[in-house]
Amino acid sequence: MSKLKSVFACNECGAQAPKWTGQCPSCGAWNSLIESAVTRAPASDRQARFGSAPGAAAQTLQQVPMEGVARMSTGLAELDRVLGGGLVAGSVVLIGGDPGIGKSTLLLQALAALSQHAPVLYVTGEESTQQVAMRAHRLGVSAPAIRLLAEIRVEQIVNCAASEQPRVMVVDSIQTVYTDILQSAPGSVAQVRESAAQLTRFAKQAGVGLFLVGHVTKEGALAGPRVLEHMVDTVLYFEGDTGSQFRMIRAIKNRFGAVNEIGVFVMTEAGLREVGNPSAMFISRHGDAVPGSVVLATQEGTRPLLVEVQALVDDAHAANPRRVSVGLDQNRLAMLLAVLHRHAGVSMTDQDVFVNVAGGVRVMETAADLAVLAAALSSIRNRPLGKDLVVFGEVGLAGEVRPVQRGEARIREAAKLGFKRALIPAANMPKKPEAGIELLPVRRLSEALELLFA
Ligand code: TYD
Ligand code: MG
Repeated sequence: MSKLKSVFACNECGAQAPKWTGQCPSCGAWNSLIESAVTRAPASDRQARFGSAPGAAAQTLQQVPMEGVARMSTGLAELDRVLGGGLVAGSVVLIGGDPGIGKSTLLLQALAALSQHAPVLYVTGEESTQQVAMRAHRLGVSAPAIRLLAEIRVEQIVNCAASEQPRVMVVDSIQTVYTDILQSAPGSVAQVRESAAQLTRFAKQAGVGLFLVGHVTKEGALAGPRVLEHMVDTVLYFEGDTGSQFRMIRAIKNRFGAVNEIGVFVMTEAGLREVGNPSAMFISRHGDAVPGSVVLATQEGTRPLLVEVQALVDDAHAANPRRVSVGLDQNRLAMLLAVLHRHAGVSMTDQDVFVNVAGGVRVMETAADLAVLAAALSSIRNRPLGKDLVVFGEVGLAGEVRPVQRGEARIREAAKLGFKRALIPAANMPKKPEAGIELLPVRRLSEALELLFA
């Protein structure tokens, strides 16, 4: 009889079964059994684990030697920025994103730059080596030093990497990789988790910087329901409309840097090109000021970013008027409209309200509140707000305008781009005036609307 290599463990209660069943025999949960590898620790290991061998001694924080982390530049300043200043040796980075968004392109470009200083290995499970070579040719990256491997068995990948000894390695994608230990198909939760665990272990041992590419499912989660996110050091999402040229890379988790940092690229004929000054790109250039358009000074990670918030308010033709938001929080929109009614006396109950952030940017901070309301009002009154105005501020349920973080950085960015007026929360008023921009501090929503639509 063959030796048992895998078991099925229940996600809910942890009970194990030798075979998959629809219902856990122990706790009765449905569809909770997930295959996992049986790992038998060697005797010496077990001894260490259970304490018969001398373990590590506790120490104080001061005793821990401070080693600076060694970082490598990926040659793409925007990618370095989201990584927290470059790729840390021995760290594992998961890059998620929709198919076709440009993950392979980005990593190939990064490897080409990295290969000039260190040996690199590109493991392709999705495309043949010819396809990768053709893409490299198209991108115009001449990187004779990039080593290529077309392989999907994880044990084989680790073996090959052990002999190649790269400093940086890409596995594209983790969903195609499988291990012999498990019977489930590549791409299943169990396979993704086990393969990633083996690759991560290797990367940590060998001090290899490892990029794992992961596809995003329709629901927007990294396939293998988030199982990878806690295993790796850094999680980056590559996003943007496939219809538009813009691509944004966002850090969701980073053990070596700030989260919510974004890097901005455009996809061109010759691959991804960095956008050094994204503010200028996201503000569309209308000839004249148009109703329903307001420029918002938002904050992404450590960087202020100016984006255009657009609103369209129109007579509703159904009993339930629509509230649709793209790039902004839908529930927050409904809340803001209620505040507008209660504290500024403007009712939109018989109107459809659509709001959108131009350029496919997602703004999830509350500092967008004031801009959303200003845009909605500008649209319903059909009054443009002027092209030289920038707005930010949170709106509370009591109709107050609340301060947001890093107000001065936002004002400075707006001034730098030539905006002349800024509507800001009074509590964000800087001590020194900023040259070239008039500041309009407000405490209440009603005050703000009076200023804008007087
Ligand atoms: P790709 O990197 O293959 O995406 P992923 O690995 O995330 O699935 O990117 C594929 C898309 O990018 C494809 O639709 C074509 C486009 N593209 C360009 O526009 N210019 C280029 O130079 C390259 C290489 C790709
Ligand atoms: Mg790809």
